[in-house]
Amino acid sequence: MEKKIFAFIGSRAAKKKTYSFVKEIITEIGHQEQIQYEIVTLNDLHMKPCMGCESCFTQGACIQRDDLCLLEEKILESDLFIFAAPVYMHGMPGEVKNIIDRLATWAHTFRLAGKNVILVSTCDTNGHTSVVDDLHLKLLYMGARIIDKYVGANFIPEGLNTDTNLILLEEADKELPRLVKRSVERWNSKMQSNRFHESLFQKYHELHSYLCSEGKINGETRYWKESGLLDCKNYQEYINLVLAKGKSCNG
Ligand SMILES: Cc1cc2nc3c(=O)[nH]c(=O)nc-3n(C[C@H](O)[C@H](O)[C@H](O)COP(=O)(O)O)c2cc1C
Repeated sequence: MEKKIFAFIGSRAAKKKTYSFVKEIITEIGHQEQIQYEIVTLNDLHMKPCMGCESCFTQGACIQRDDLCLLEEKILESDLFIFAAPVYMHGMPGEVKNIIDRLATWAHTFRLAGKNVILVSTCDTNGHTSVVDDLHLKLLYMGARIIDKYVGANFIPEGLNTDTNLILLEEADKELPRLVKRSVERWNSKMQSNRFHESLFQKYHELHSYLCSEGKINGETRYWKESGLLDCKNYQEYINLVLAKGKSCNG
């Protein structure tokens, strides 16, 4: 059966460097796996700024009406989510950070449990790992399994020490087959929890159990009850539950 890849490109430079690099990665995955894919860029979405109202925390979802729900659906329905953005001034573009802010409640509700993620960035000469490392931490808090990180650059300083796949964009066609093979192997390996997720799970589990016992049910506590998170003893059990349902839970 074909696996679904959804790629979000956090750039308005449609079909330019980040887009092309992601396309190359997907094409290489397609040589190794049966896939269907969809790519969405910032240009395809109408996204309002975060108002800071905290409704996402109290009600469990953002109250603004725009394309956020559409983006959420596409991420949650995918077998592999590719999150890509160029480096802007040693960080992610502001519009991408806005989307992350709008998804803040996901970091309290393990919304990416069971989700395989590849992070991709491009840059010219500096700030190589700033975007992928920042996204790594944020998506880890959302519960994702980060199977790999790729950075395509025009220049890579010698001795840049990182766990990221650093690739000169002009040599991507030579480098990608070997690197993508490893990513695909990780994608197909059994999904296992880690100490970070287990510790975070216990912390939130304790909090929401207490809030439930006190009858103080806000949007996030409701999600913990309804998704089955609260009935699980540990994060591995929740990953297994999500995978048994077939897709990530989005409530
Ligand atoms: C506003 C802005 C800031 C940038 N800041 C950096 C930077 O800090 N480091 C760097 O190496 N490249 C920087 N770049 C270059 C882009 O990261 C690079 O060209 C990237 O590949 C563009 O991807 P895109 O064509 O998909 O938008 C910047 C570009 C822009 C427009």
